[in-house]
Amino acid sequence: MKRAFITGITGQDGSYLAESLLQRGYEVHGLIRRASVFNTDRIDHLYQDPHDQAVRLHLHHGDVTDPLALKRVIEESDPDEIYHLAAQSHVRVSFDQPLYTGHVGAMGTLNVLEAAKEVERRRDRPIRLYNAGSSEMFGASPPPQSEDTPFRPRSPYAVSKVAAHGYAVNYREAYGLHVVNGILFNHASPRRGETFLTRKVTRAATRISLGLQDHLWLGNLDARRDWGFAGDYVEAMWRMLQTDVPVDYVVATGRSHSVRDVVVAVFDRLDLDWEAHVRIDPRYLRPTEVAHLEGDASRIERDLGWKPEVGLDDLVDMMVEHDLAVAERERLLRDHGHGDVPRGRVTP
Ligand code: NAP
Ligand code: GDD
Repeated sequence: MKRAFITGITGQDGSYLAESLLQRGYEVHGLIRRASVFNTDRIDHLYQDPHDQAVRLHLHHGDVTDPLALKRVIEESDPDEIYHLAAQSHVRVSFDQPLYTGHVGAMGTLNVLEAAKEVERRRDRPIRLYNAGSSEMFGASPPPQSEDTPFRPRSPYAVSKVAAHGYAVNYREAYGLHVVNGILFNHASPRRGETFLTRKVTRAATRISLGLQDHLWLGNLDARRDWGFAGDYVEAMWRMLQTDVPVDYVVATGRSHSVRDVVVAVFDRLDLDWEAHVRIDPRYLRPTEVAHLEGDASRIERDLGWKPEVGLDDLVDMMVEHDLAVAERERLLRDHGHGDVPRGRVTP
């Protein structure tokens, strides 16, 4: 049985990845942060009683900024593959917390690489490591962006990802560590964090359609992104680690849409006039925006046969259907006197 270790297992991608690795027969170990409330919603359906002998999902407390604990849990997990997904992944927030974002994104990645190198050296069995890079690294470089496009990062988040990418390449070249960098374009799902654009829109629009709120506050409607489905993208991560020679890949759909296009698509699905509900709030603008990301994923298609299965239309359908059910539950609770979800939670 192969063993995998995932940082960021409680996040969107970590949850889909854990699911697919368990389905493939892996034993899965995940790093989780101690929190004062449960933070495992996205993987609760995968959770197994640790007293059960057949358990294949193990969760370990730790943090990528804590190198000692990190190394200990990687040693204990004894993985064949590490998927390093942990990050402060919100671009807008990275302008508010640049040092923290850099600490987790860049130094955290260095801690993971260093731990993997040391554990591999001691046990004399190779480790393969996937590092979660981002299309944000391309920043101001015009589309289409491929593996050969220069990085011109436009946010503290993107800079931290460029540093992490550089560390990963260096550990590959200097120590022969089997590291691959996935350069993933935006991907979403019903499990997407509610402060990212797609989910923010589907949560708000479905609530508006049921009379639970009136307005949705957004920032820049003109930016263009290449949006895919997270389930497809974790499949690409796994394929990248199955080759004997480590190669970095762009993962994208090859099609971009504006933020406005997404808003219109979601509101249209619900027969709502988006202009009657959407307002602009400058707090959601970024000091430096990335205007246009559209990936050229021909290398991964050619080498690994990976292609996205879900396009933006199907993604929007999937997310609207999911969030309509969430909003219906919220309305039911409200109608039975249990109060409503605080507005701040759904329109952050
Ligand atoms: P996400 O939903 O924000 O999840 C981030 C995960 O990292 C969470 O499990 C979070 O834990 C964990 N984490 C944050 N700081 C940590 C720390 N200091 N130590 C340990 N764990 C920590 O992000 P995602 O969308 O799944 O993305 C996964 C990775 O891919 C990220 O590195 C992101 O930057 C990158 N990426 C994402 C996209 C995309 O469109 N989704 C595209 C390109 C690259 P908590 O649950 O405790 O907060
Ligand atoms: N979040 C958010 N909230 N974005 C908004 C809003 C708003 O109210 N209004 C407009 N936008 C625009 C942003 O300015 C950006 O151009 C676009 O919507 C997408 O924003 P996000 O969904 O926050 O994603 P992102 O593109 O900044 O970053 C995501 O994708 C990267 C890959 O390209 C994150 O998942 C990153 O972690 C990831 O690396």
